[in-house]
Amino acid sequence: MAASHPAIRLALLAIAALSASAAPNMTPDYEVKLLMDPSIVLDPSDHKLTPTVLSTFAMPTTVTKMNVQFLDTSSKEIYAAGWSPRIRKTEGENDFELTYKKRYPVSSNDIDGTLTTANTQGFDSGDSNYDAQIEWGYTQKTLSISRKKSASDSGYSGMDLPGTSNSRSMLIDKAPDKFDDWVSNNWGTTKLGTSRIFGPVLAKRSIGTWNSTQLYIEVWPIKDSAGTGIEYIVEASFKTNSRTEAEQKHDALMAFLSGKGWFVAQDSLKTGLIMDRY
Ligand SMILES: *[C@@H]1O[C@H](CO)[C@@H](O)[C@H](O)[C@H]1NC(C)=O
Repeated sequence: MAASHPAIRLALLAIAALSASAAPNMTPDYEVKLLMDPSIVLDPSDHKLTPTVLSTFAMPTTVTKMNVQFLDTSSKEIYAAGWSPRIRKTEGENDFELTYKKRYPVSSNDIDGTLTTANTQGFDSGDSNYDAQIEWGYTQKTLSISRKKSASDSGYSGMDLPGTSNSRSMLIDKAPDKFDDWVSNNWGTTKLGTSRIFGPVLAKRSIGTWNSTQLYIEVWPIKDSAGTGIEYIVEASFKTNSRTEAEQKHDALMAFLSGKGWFVAQDSLKTGLIMDRY
């Protein structure tokens, strides 16, 4: 039999190995996020975007509120494993949005290499329940892979988020398998069972236009490093499906904000700040 020949057996093994890993990488979209200087773009008394900023981007004075909190153990074991389970209430929307997000830092600018790493860990194009996004900051990029679920907000009013016990049960009930079994069987729900709240942070989003693209500016009041006051993080962002457009407009928006004196040359690490300060 030809297949018993050692060289052919090797070739068959190689083909089997290739087809086992043949699912293509996920196709991400891109979200460019750049920081703006709160001491210049916010009114010092009410911490709202100044009329100049609003008119520059054709933004109305109305904002959309978003109340956000993360759950993790006190020693942040879930975050350390690269995951962030989050509960969000967005003004005007029914229900709470639950998100289970896995982060992969992009090193050496190698977006495709990072998508391949995620693929080897089980996130490939066949997984339509998860969305891949490259979060593109000033210098750093992060691949985030997230799964969204929802939970009823009946019994809650306004922008209220659930307390610890209900937050735990909501995130445990809806936990997807990949999150739950990431480290070992039922790791995720076990950790959520002893988790606490990090946050909440009530952010405000304005929506306008810049360079034919929808532009968001979000103001996030986050506890300051001393823990006694509030630090306002102001982030301008836009989304695109095109890597080329993300790159060109990232540079163009940076130049535009710099020209106005509004740019902060730092990467935005909102989730990291919330995990550190709450
Ligand atoms: C608008 O974006 C394009 C890339 O899509 C860029 O080449 C151009 O310089 C930008 N224009 C401005 C005014 O920043």
